[in-house]
Amino acid sequence: MVIDAARIPVDPQHFWLRGEKPAAPVDFDEARGVWNVYGHREAVEVLGDPKTFSSDIVRVMPIDLDPALLEGDLTQLDPPQHRKLRRLVSHAFTPKIVADLEPRIAALTHELLDAVADEGRFELVADLAYPLPVIVIAELLGVPSSDRDLFQKWVEEVLSGGQQLSVSAQGEEQLREMNASPEGMREINDYLLGHAAERRRNPREDLLTQLVQAQVDGERLTDNEVVNFAGLLLAAGHITTTMLLGNTVMCLDAHPEQAARVRADRALVPGAIEESLRLLAPFALTYRATTTEAEVGGRRVPADQVLSVWLGAANRDDRVFAAPDAFDPARDPNPHIAFGRGIHFCLGAPLARLEGRIAMDILLDRFPVLRTDPANPPVLMPGTDMIGATSLPVLAE
Ligand code: HEM
Repeated sequence: MVIDAARIPVDPQHFWLRGEKPAAPVDFDEARGVWNVYGHREAVEVLGDPKTFSSDIVRVMPIDLDPALLEGDLTQLDPPQHRKLRRLVSHAFTPKIVADLEPRIAALTHELLDAVADEGRFELVADLAYPLPVIVIAELLGVPSSDRDLFQKWVEEVLSGGQQLSVSAQGEEQLREMNASPEGMREINDYLLGHAAERRRNPREDLLTQLVQAQVDGERLTDNEVVNFAGLLLAAGHITTTMLLGNTVMCLDAHPEQAARVRADRALVPGAIEESLRLLAPFALTYRATTTEAEVGGRRVPADQVLSVWLGAANRDDRVFAAPDAFDPARDPNPHIAFGRGIHFCLGAPLARLEGRIAMDILLDRFPVLRTDPANPPVLMPGTDMIGATSLPVLAE
């Protein structure tokens, strides 16, 4: 199977456990004791049935994680708790709040590019794709964006595992594999706790203030819930969008004929972003645990089993996508699941799409030539569950 690997240096193990498309849409990995869901239809079924396929995977993993670290973490909650918290935080991401960010995102993009534009080359991740979304999410939350080096350090610590989950792994190793470094998380939480306490005393016009003041069914969020949720936003809110921008630039670079088409018809920019999400899903994998015996893709899965849902593989399922390995900005429909599906559908998707569109449009406006530097190829993230560049030098004129 040839992926765009010839042109984009992506390891096919991001899509399939063994780097090759398996014959069946669902299989069981004896070594890790985990079920793999690769098919689009099967992934959508799993993500669409939270009663059978729970997001609380810690329940079935052999680890001892402080439950306080998970309180308020939307991604791990099932209904009815999930519904309550999601309803509350959705107020902060109304379409209007996101749309109103447009001028700020455009101004920031220009500011960041002004700093490097005259040099004829820059490093897309460090100079634009990392700082842009982190400044936006920090401003939205109300924490100083000048602390972004700290966020970067913590997020890198928390994500440094990046390995496959395994039911057979134990203790420390498992914690690393779960991408949950307690020290990194505690540092983020202490930092956010300080800011949250300050907002209780001095409310401001920001998301942290809304969170400390919010009430769900007459109850307030605990400090723990506030900081864990804010920490989730800080992490989820920027690294994924960083990857999206880098991946879109790499996709266009690898497909010059499609890039020319997008330049000629800017209405194709959103489609190019969707294709980049489909082909190089920044968040390539998510997990669920069965609460009861279930059938997926013709396989009988017992209760209390962990399933890896391979979003990037589902996005290349040829039963749903014609020419699945082709990059086609005009693909329509494009039912990729890079933002998930169902009740956990990415809360930040409208923001990520907006940031992606504005930044790509400005890059195309400002640089008639924008290509990766052949002398300095991109460096991709280690591990398999994230797809994105950590360094992407570009030549820009
Ligand atoms: C959930 C991907 C950007 C906040 C998710 C999920 C995926 C995802 C796949 C679902 C996980 C699951 O069902 O297990 C992405 C990608 C992004 C992106 C690919 C960028 C390209 C953002 C941004 C924010 C954000 C910008 C916040 C500002 C969240 C939150 C959830 C989530 C809070 C949990 C929702 C829930 O559990 O109800 N994201 N995300 N994401 N995302 Fe994103």
